[in-house]
Amino acid sequence: MMGVPKQGPVIAIDGPAGTGKSSATKRLADVLGFVHIDTGALYRSIAFTLLDRKIPEAEYEEQATSFARSLHLEFRRLPNKNPSNRIFADGRDITDYIRTPEVSMNASKVSAYPGVRAALLGLQRRMGCIGRTILEGRDIGTVIFPDADVKFFLTASVEERAKRRLSEMEASGADAPSFEEVKSQIAQRDHSDMNRAAAPLKKAEDAISIDTSLMTLDEVVLKMEEQARRLLKLEAPSGQNRK
Ligand code: DC
Repeated sequence: MMGVPKQGPVIAIDGPAGTGKSSATKRLADVLGFVHIDTGALYRSIAFTLLDRKIPEAEYEEQATSFARSLHLEFRRLPNKNPSNRIFADGRDITDYIRTPEVSMNASKVSAYPGVRAALLGLQRRMGCIGRTILEGRDIGTVIFPDADVKFFLTASVEERAKRRLSEMEASGADAPSFEEVKSQIAQRDHSDMNRAAAPLKKAEDAISIDTSLMTLDEVVLKMEEQARRLLKLEAPSGQNRK
């Protein structure tokens, strides 16, 4: 179908921002011993590069497409760093710069450019097809790995997501904006992610939906782990990996 065959099981996790997707994916990867691939970091890296190189907005689409084709993007695990899963662009560790609100807004823009999506599609498939991988994003189960072995789609109310995003920002020591501001940023990003022409955010028909609004992170991870073990016919957990 897409050129690069899977060499082992692939799990796809999609859903909007603030559903607890990243934390849940990280934990699920740990308990299953799978590699976690945060595909949003790829779009964020392109968005950061536009800002870093002071590209004028009128040239965004052309330049973003060219960066997506030519930048060497890779994940490296550096256990002594936090977070230990780092993203490198042309050999430079840019992990600490890609989570600002400005990069988030630009990443959403960048992710609507069909040329960027086309360039990142092959990269994501190559990263994922080694197997025992969990890819987290917006279109993994629909476009990147429609043949994923297990697919999850996480949702949560906008209020709950804004609350979580705000406490994350406060915990990281960043200057936190108001609740209303965070809520409106989330709603704005949802709108553009769901309404763009190229690979809009939507649930794959065969994805398992999980509404995380009233669930703890532990409950979400446990539910995903049970489903993944059942569908992949993996051994039952020994209990040693569980926090
Ligand atoms: O998950 P995130 O917030 O780091 O994603 C950043 C942006 O990239 C977000 O606006 C959605 C977009 N994105 C995408 O379109 N497709 C993906 N597979 C991952 C992220």
